[in-house]
Amino acid sequence: MKFPIYFDNAATTACDKRALDAMLPYFTETFGNPGSRNHAYGWESEAAVDQARQSIAKLIGAQPKEIIFTSGSTEGNNLAIKGAATMYAKKGAGEKGRGHIIAAMHEHKATLDPCKRLAKDGFDVTFLEPRADGLITKDMVEGAMRDDTILVSIMWANNELGTINEVPEIGKLCHDRGVVLHTDATQWVGKMPTDVERDNIDLMTFSGHKMYGPKGVGAIYVRRRRPRIRLTAQIEGGGQERGIRSGTLNVTGIVGLGKAAELAYEEMEKDQQHTLKLRKKLEDTLQEKLEHTQVNGHADRRLPHITNISFGFVEGEGLMMAIKDIACSSGSACTSASLEPSYVLKALGIGDDLAHSSLRLSLSKWTTEEEVDFAIEKITWAVNHLRNLSPLYDMFKEGIDISKIEWQSH
Ligand SMILES: Cc1ncc(COP(=O)(O)O)c(C=O)c1O
Repeated sequence: MKFPIYFDNAATTACDKRALDAMLPYFTETFGNPGSRNHAYGWESEAAVDQARQSIAKLIGAQPKEIIFTSGSTEGNNLAIKGAATMYAKKGAGEKGRGHIIAAMHEHKATLDPCKRLAKDGFDVTFLEPRADGLITKDMVEGAMRDDTILVSIMWANNELGTINEVPEIGKLCHDRGVVLHTDATQWVGKMPTDVERDNIDLMTFSGHKMYGPKGVGAIYVRRRRPRIRLTAQIEGGGQERGIRSGTLNVTGIVGLGKAAELAYEEMEKDQQHTLKLRKKLEDTLQEKLEHTQVNGHADRRLPHITNISFGFVEGEGLMMAIKDIACSSGSACTSASLEPSYVLKALGIGDDLAHSSLRLSLSKWTTEEEVDFAIEKITWAVNHLRNLSPLYDMFKEGIDISKIEWQSH
């Protein structure tokens, strides 16, 4: 085993060596700019990009022309959300502003911040509060819809919890109402079967480094038929990607993403079974061994490889220090630098204490049973150790109701 053991695959995965091997020639040998239409260097690179586009389209049931390459999901979400909102603003314009947008409170910051920007620019944004199990349902979106709603942006699976929203059902609702549906599928694509036709998706964001591809590359799916979705470009310049996203294409990254998509298409089922079995072992054993332990989010509607577990009567920072042999997250990768309790867990109504003492453990297709056993042992030891030091836990065991204690002296 290599220490610290990596349990942070929702933050990023290692790049599959087969994807890396596919990329390498495009750094040094076939290095042309796919925009160079006058010579073989350019044509070869363009052919490689076309091949990747096809593999990605196949993975999600799209047409190759519907794939627009980006630098990752942060850019993808910005392009999809701002691009659709500004394109359809006229349709939503009325007394209340430039149109109504629906998103969720526990989206990734790469969705929340573009939505907040749009709110400053005159759009009206509703942030739906998730259910206590983390889900956003079709009924919740339907209840928030208005005549001036132009865009719904609901992530397919949550990055901290792994919970799976009712996205295909929300997509159907949006199609019936003539509203554009965007989904941030960064944690979903490559892990779960996706068919943008069957699942009623208009715009979908995903990223190479969450699916065993390289970092700094991603794509958005942009529906071209029934209905044709149009976007206002957010980066303008050379007119690449049909003018939707200018900039010289990241050929090596795109080739790596294409190969990762190909591998996901072939191996997804096997990988799912593998991670699900290990995730269940992790959750079940920790809950068996440790009382006051809860798995956050819906019991079944969850990705196979992500779990988020809170341990009562444990101080979060202490827990992270005690399990240094395990590389995992206490909240989202992007927020763990600050000591704020995770806004995702707070949105579910989870109290600050349990939010602080939560761990997100995310597995990969390479995670071994031995590694999971080690994590179980280490976490069990750490939680028991910290509880032994905790006066609160002592009081709790003595039957004192901690919520009723008046802590301040008068
Ligand atoms: C759900 C979700 N959306 C967006 C992002 C941002 O993706 P990227 O790192 O490709 O910009 C992440 C990464 O953590 C994510 O998990």
